Amino acid sequence: MTRPIGEWIHEHVPDDRDLNQPELARLATIIGELPDLWRDKVRHDAGKRYYDQLYRDSHVDVWLICWLDDQKTGYHDHDLSSGGVYVCEGTLIEDRFMFSVAGLEHSSRERPAGDSFVFDGAYIHGMRHAGGPPVTSIHCYSPPLWRMGYYEADAQGSLSRMPVTSIHCYSPPLWRMGYYEADAQGSLSRISMTYLDEIAESA
Ligand SMILES: [Fe+2]
Repeated sequence: MTRPIGEWIHEHVPDDRDLNQPELARLATIIGELPDLWRDKVRHDAGKRYYDQLYRDSHVDVWLICWLDDQKTGYHDHDLSSGGVYVCEGTLIEDRFMFSVAGLEHSSRERPAGDSFVFDGAYIHGMRHAGGPPVTSIHCYSPPLWRMGYYEADAQGSLSRMPVTSIHCYSPPLWRMGYYEADAQGSLSRISMTYLDEIAESA
């Protein structure tokens, strides 16, 4: 039986601050090695890369991503969020741009099952399935992922950054949510969170 991941996170993760990169690597690894927290969400779909947000609060969000042949993210950054990734099964390839005397070059490395890695918000990479068995991976971000930048060719073929806001993932757009926590007296209370306020504060 799958255990609610929110319950597990509330027991094991500080809820009053953002997590640093070593903490994100640890969190992704521990969640990745506890399939009872996510196994029933796994879907490998030949038509598109499958992803599911397992958890989100004010300081961290956790995603499950399932990959099959030729599925990839494209080059992107994570704006203001640091991240930690754990590969649960299969092998991913991580692509990066590297400076060399000849200019920018592509560089790739394998991220096999059991591998974990971290990055800050400015880090640019692309992830793709390496072929072979399906891949399942756990991705943790702190602060939670609000925006990303995607790197594509503009009309003249120059590399350019396209900002994408996570709230575009929801239809209609998700502007506010209520989180239920204990107040100073221990009573259950609703904390209202407006996405636009979060963006304005962090910009
Ligand atoms: Fe990424």
